[in-house]
Amino acid sequence: MSSSLIIAIDGPAASGKGTLARRVARALGFAHLDTGSLYRAVGVLVLRADKDPADPVAAAQVARALKPDSAILDDPDLRTDEAAQAASKVAVVPEVRAALLDFQRSFAFTPPGGAPGAVLDGRDVGTVVCPDANAKLFVTASVEVRAQRRLKELQERGIPAIPSDVLEDMKARDARDSQRAIAPLVPADDAYLLDTSAMNADEAFTAAIAFIGSKTGVHGA
Ligand code: C5P
Repeated sequence: MSSSLIIAIDGPAASGKGTLARRVARALGFAHLDTGSLYRAVGVLVLRADKDPADPVAAAQVARALKPDSAILDDPDLRTDEAAQAASKVAVVPEVRAALLDFQRSFAFTPPGGAPGAVLDGRDVGTVVCPDANAKLFVTASVEVRAQRRLKELQERGIPAIPSDVLEDMKARDARDSQRAIAPLVPADDAYLLDTSAMNADEAFTAAIAFIGSKTGVHGA
């Protein structure tokens, strides 16, 4: 058991959960873990080893060797769409998920820097990693809105992208994440559903902080 507060923020790709999680963590003085970066790191390392991310043996071997303080977790290559697709392929492998579980739980139970709590964002934080989290949010938006956001982000980074391809990639990743047998993307029964389709980042933040405050009594600065 843990005495620190745990906030779980799950949701599909480009739902805004990462931005929201970082902002909530800053406002509450909590540590933040983007759990997707762990799966992206495994995907990128498998590709760099010239292996197929869908190969369960190669993916599990990389996941077991991943160190929490590894420099790969801050590598800009993690942010590419290739990394995202590879991540969603290694993420269906049960041995990969098991290997990454301990790190996520110890971060949540003993947040680094002595922080009084932790915010973890991902796909299965509220359902599998921390089912006893103090507050759970499931952030979503329509697939069209999420594809538009991803397109804008790619354009801002100067990466050429075809709108119909971005939408198709988003749908493919949604399908892989939602239909996998282990830890699929589903809201926890007790999660607060936050549909950001018609919200900006400030509105999503205000709603999230109000919900977290009602569950934990912590309202932040
Ligand atoms: O959140 P992000 O887009 O960085 O996640 C990349 C991929 O990693 C997701 O599409 C998903 O397949 C996988 N993932 C997961 N469980 C998590 C976080 C991410 O399966 N908790």
